[in-house]
Amino acid sequence: METLTGMKRTHHCGELRKSDVDAEIVLAGWVSRRRDHGGLIFVDMRDRSGLVQVVFDEAAMGEEAFHKAETLRSEFVMGVRGKVRARSEETINPNMETGEIEIVVTELRILNKAKTPPFYIQDGVDVDEMVRLRYRYLDLRRPEMQKNIMLRHRVTKIMRDFMDENGFLEIETPMLCKSTPEGARDFLVPSRLNPGNFYALPQSPQIFKQLLMVSGFEKYFQIVRCFRDEDLRADRQPEFTQLDIETSFMDQEDILTLMEGLIKDIFEKAMGKKVETPFLRMGWDEAMERFGSDKPDLRFGMELMDISEYVKGSDFKVFASVLEHGGQVKVINVEDYANIPRRELDGLVEYVQGYGAKGLAWIQYTEEGIKSPFKKFYSEETFEEIKKATGAKTGDLLLVIADKPLVVAQALGELRLEMARRRGLIDPDKLSFLWVVDFPMFEYVEEDKRWKAMHHPFTSPREEDVQYLKSEPGRVKAVAYDMVLNGVEIGGGSLRIYNSELQAKVFEAIGLSEEEARAKFGFMMDAFEYGTPPHGGIAFGLDRLVMIMAKRKSIRDVIAFPKTQSASDVMSHAPSAVDDKQLRELSIRTAVAAKTKPQEK
Ligand code: AMO
Ligand code: AMP
Repeated sequence: METLTGMKRTHHCGELRKSDVDAEIVLAGWVSRRRDHGGLIFVDMRDRSGLVQVVFDEAAMGEEAFHKAETLRSEFVMGVRGKVRARSEETINPNMETGEIEIVVTELRILNKAKTPPFYIQDGVDVDEMVRLRYRYLDLRRPEMQKNIMLRHRVTKIMRDFMDENGFLEIETPMLCKSTPEGARDFLVPSRLNPGNFYALPQSPQIFKQLLMVSGFEKYFQIVRCFRDEDLRADRQPEFTQLDIETSFMDQEDILTLMEGLIKDIFEKAMGKKVETPFLRMGWDEAMERFGSDKPDLRFGMELMDISEYVKGSDFKVFASVLEHGGQVKVINVEDYANIPRRELDGLVEYVQGYGAKGLAWIQYTEEGIKSPFKKFYSEETFEEIKKATGAKTGDLLLVIADKPLVVAQALGELRLEMARRRGLIDPDKLSFLWVVDFPMFEYVEEDKRWKAMHHPFTSPREEDVQYLKSEPGRVKAVAYDMVLNGVEIGGGSLRIYNSELQAKVFEAIGLSEEEARAKFGFMMDAFEYGTPPHGGIAFGLDRLVMIMAKRKSIRDVIAFPKTQSASDVMSHAPSAVDDKQLRELSIRTAVAAKTKPQEK
């Protein structure tokens, strides 16, 4: 193999343009594609900046050097010296940024060979994601993946600059800590020096950032890894990254405005996209009412509408019994889809059952008249009233769910998203931001028969609701806010409780006795006795934000080395068994035999 000694790289492949014609240059990179025309070889050469065509011409470079060029294969690493030449009119490639020029090579050095990769190193490859993850280092060599990772870098750089310019200090917090109260399962780490004891990896730096406020730093941020052992989805990883923020002496409006400025900066500087501020602020109640979701996608309409008053008091048992038991009957209008195939309707019934609904009904306002499974229970006038009330037209389809309010919201909210996808109602170029505010302080956990903090137990209730903490916990709203972009929760935070008496009341409301509270958060409660400023904060999901910016469907595409759905790394084979000696040192015995073998040492 050869080296680059005496051959200094002068340019990057993707940056060369017509203005560089006649320049003598040196490039280093990979062979992307190679076409042999006998006596003339064309190679698309790649580095992280992009592609450029390099030409090996036997007549120009001599027989010996040309023979070397003939041995080049995909993904070989090479250095070339050559001259930039304008392509003739008919050979210009408008699909390539460097398509107006090419490099006539005078010297080639082959720096390394490569095995044939398991998939093409190019955009839009149709390979199973497992194969991509197994060979992640090659997957990451593909230009679109490189763009995602570079975008992520840009975004974190802009975040750091913005936070710094606004007086925030980046402070690190421990990775080995006591478990934090975010509500997912903890990842535990055994302590060798304290046999039988475990650290937890932080679900977020929540407690530490609040303690930094007690310490008087006033403005903290950190781009930080968080760990949550929960069921994974396309937008959830067991380890993910937050831009974590906490400030003292700011109210909710100050924080929301500052964060809008941050988002504006990120989209403008990283993508040249203008974002209009302030964002819409919508109460949680309203979001659930109108969209059936606490993270509504506002890129399209199709809002949920209540038709309970039109269908009550009939012989139709399904609606009657739901309405008698405090439920509701709500619809969405899928415009111009009255002629939906029956087969699709049957599929939709199954779809909503997956989200907890017992069933689905519909009204098809067709040219030939009304079709509905409950047609015989109501008069023609009732169907006309519903049509008027919902603004439906002839040709429209109403999908109907009757159930308890939370079930209707969940199932009809998901159906709204699904129908928008199927009907192509979502403009992929649109950015739709909003704040969801006034979250309930608590949610009721049916299985445990108790109230639980919806955000976390340090979130402040609204001043005017403190009186209901004991009597009507369900009525208490929190000073908590989520930023939503295109139906994805990209950030969430709250103002915190800084008064020990109020904190005690909240612990009591969630059934945490004083002893339990002390055992869990004693150090924090102690700290709060020493002059705690009013404070609050927010954390953004960096992976989710970059996923949307990069127009990806999964956060795995914007994380260099992500885990699979089953939380494993198929490249390095983590998690894996460890040998007995390691376990003995940690005073640990396992109850099940691991499926994997300890890695060979
Ligand atoms: P929260 O739990 O809402 O708040 O998390 C903040 C943001 O982090 C992102 N996120 C995730 N991203 C990928 N994978 C996951 N498993 C995952 N879980 C959460 C979301 C979410 O909006 N300490 C509080 C913040 C605060 O109160 O200041 C917290 O962690 O985008
Ligand atoms: P059933 O009596 O269960 O056969 O239901 C009769 C019709 O009522 C079904 O065909 C559905 O269209 C509708 N239906 C049943 N349950 C619901 C529900 N929870 N919400 C809306 N429609 C329902």
